[in-house]
Amino acid sequence: MLHCYRKDPAFVSEPDFVMELDGELIGQVIYVRSEIDCDDGRKVPIMTFGPIGIAQKYKRQGYGKHLLDYSMEKAKEMGVGALAITGNILFYGKSGFVPAKTKGIRYADDPEADYFLIKELMPDFLGGISGTYKDPEGYFVCEKYPDAFEKYEATFPKKEKLKLPGQLF
Ligand SMILES: CC(C)(COP(=O)(O)OP(=O)(O)OC[C@H]1O[C@@H](n2cnc3c(N)ncnc32)[C@H](O)[C@@H]1OP(=O)(O)O)[C@@H](O)C(=O)NCCC(=O)NCCS
Repeated sequence: MLHCYRKDPAFVSEPDFVMELDGELIGQVIYVRSEIDCDDGRKVPIMTFGPIGIAQKYKRQGYGKHLLDYSMEKAKEMGVGALAITGNILFYGKSGFVPAKTKGIRYADDPEADYFLIKELMPDFLGGISGTYKDPEGYFVCEKYPDAFEKYEATFPKKEKLKLPGQLF
């Protein structure tokens, strides 16, 4: 997915990071542009990120939060007003995310979703705004091009698909 997503027109390179520990790749995060479709017809540009991942043996040691907070600082420096993400409040809440519906922003596919989260990077950026949000199209690249995805995956040593502890979804 990342292989394609980094070529997506919505991809933003500045906050896109991998995390290394003594030369070993242990984490990554990716950002893309997205927007809020406001109820008054405006479109407010924001960003979203993810996937974010930390290698299994380094989970729950603070690396994920460090990577997220560091990358969000870069997004803030770029003047981004808010970040939206579907995810688990237990992790993202530690970095200041709140359920987006409490700020008047609904997830288009599931308007009451508690797992659709938002964080203002600029104070009161969402003040006076209400609207909906859709996942960026590029996020669904694997579903859109299943054959190409399978073909690319096949170039790597085979791995069994597992659900591991720490996987938020
Ligand atoms: C989610 C993920 C990025 C978090 O990174 P991490 O380095 O393990 O998390 P951190 O150690 O920085 O966690 C910071 C705090 O967030 C909370 N937290 C993190 N993962 C959690 C989990 N699975 N369940 C509950 N709380 C969690 C905890 O409060 C944690 O602090 P604590 O360990 O002192 O209790 C990582 O576990 C991961 O790669 N998961 C698989 C991929 C995934 O689900 N990504 C998110 C969806 S795109």
